[in-house]
Amino acid sequence: MKIAVIGTGYVGLVTSTCLAESGNDVIGIDKDAAKIARLEAGQLPIYEPGLLELVQRNRREGRLVFTTDLATGIADVQLIFIAVGTPPGKDGEPDLGAVWAVGDAIAAAAKDAKIVIIKSTVPVGTNHQLTKLLASRTQIPHDVVSNPEFLKEGAAVDDFMKPDRVVVGVRNERVAEVMNELYAPFLRTERPFLAMSPESAEMTKYVANAMLATKISFINEMANLCDALDADINDVRRGIGHDVRIGFQFLFPGAGYGGSCFPKDVQAVLSMARQRNVPTHLMNAVEQVNYAQKQVLFRKVKQHFGPALREKTLAIWGLAFKPRTDDIREAPALTLIDALLAEGVPLRVHDPEALANVRAIYGNRLEYCERPYGALEGADGLVIVTEWPEFRRPDFDLVRRLMREQVVFDGRNLYEPRVMAGLGFVYYAIGRQGTASVRNDAG
Ligand SMILES: NC(=O)c1ccc[n+]([C@@H]2O[C@H](COP(=O)([O-])OP(=O)(O)OC[C@H]3O[C@@H](n4cnc5c(N)ncnc54)[C@H](O)[C@@H]3O)[C@@H](O)[C@H]2O)c1
Repeated sequence: MKIAVIGTGYVGLVTSTCLAESGNDVIGIDKDAAKIARLEAGQLPIYEPGLLELVQRNRREGRLVFTTDLATGIADVQLIFIAVGTPPGKDGEPDLGAVWAVGDAIAAAAKDAKIVIIKSTVPVGTNHQLTKLLASRTQIPHDVVSNPEFLKEGAAVDDFMKPDRVVVGVRNERVAEVMNELYAPFLRTERPFLAMSPESAEMTKYVANAMLATKISFINEMANLCDALDADINDVRRGIGHDVRIGFQFLFPGAGYGGSCFPKDVQAVLSMARQRNVPTHLMNAVEQVNYAQKQVLFRKVKQHFGPALREKTLAIWGLAFKPRTDDIREAPALTLIDALLAEGVPLRVHDPEALANVRAIYGNRLEYCERPYGALEGADGLVIVTEWPEFRRPDFDLVRRLMREQVVFDGRNLYEPRVMAGLGFVYYAIGRQGTASVRNDAG
């Protein structure tokens, strides 16, 4: 099939590349000329494991090209994916400006009927509105499909190539068949193709993220309670996880969820509910718990050092909102950095991929360290915010020697409190009695 994908960000670039990989002719379109120039030079504008090789191979084989020219780009294609950003707007309602701009551009440029597929995460009713927008601007009968994306940054290529399911919101049987054919190569292992109404498809994406955010806030709240009751959330987690109704997935306590999706999508759920006067006690609480959890590391740091905090230098490992990405949107590390900078604490930060994005925000207010151990030199403590695999088994002798004080604040429960005590560290974790138990009395 001939396909255009509009937006070459985390979702659009993975979508266009994986669709080319399965044999389609794909053109990736973005208004950001710098991004397109990098892609045309064979480089990635983002970090995503495994993606660079696929982009390079499919470009070489002529199945994947990039342009900033939307009108020419969509001229010969049958399918157009919209994968532009839908950032939070006012009152948590997603800003759909980019979606409407692309809708206008398609209506103005398309000379024949297209299947327009909304892959961006959009509020329920957007498919209907885009259908109306196109019908009001052109006589050509375009179809509009909702096809939410469930990929995870850091494992995006794998998730797209082997999805748990494909959800398609579609009104028309013929179009559903085209979509089924498009996704057939990715669903060979009996994964389902789920056709439903566009409204249900749009809602499915929000409900999935609302559920995942709820699990995180749930386990974080229980972890804080464990801290206060001298129980160990890791034992508790194992104690509940073997119950098949509960399971182990996504029940790891931490420093709060971030990223470009959960915070924005929870807010969008709240905004949709507000507009329809539907109460949302649970979602309100999920958001509040997360807001408080993003402060938990700062609270522990402040309680440990007290007024002396102002004279300390701290190292931070892990800045991306999760491992294996360079994405720092809404990252808990930024909340921590802001709070520590406000206290005047000098910070030495390290992340395997996200340093450039963090530097773009903080400039010379932070010390950027290319190596994890470099960040520890002369630090009075280490705070771990993101669980990159390379942080799991550091050389603790070296860590101890490099730091002025042997204190570790672990926002991801990477280490065993007893082992850390044996190594001579003062160790704080989340919901586990570290070597120094701290009560969480906020949030
Ligand atoms: N990032 C994720 O993990 C993820 C997962 C599932 C769904 N989503 C959803 O997918 C959508 C895209 O997310 P993302 O993370 O890829 O965003 P992103 O910010 O990385 O990429 C969006 C791209 O769209 C481009 N763009 C904006 N307006 C445009 C226009 N008028 N014409 C052409 N290009 C335009 C931008 O330049 C940018 O490159 C969002 O709705 C998001 O909620 C994201």
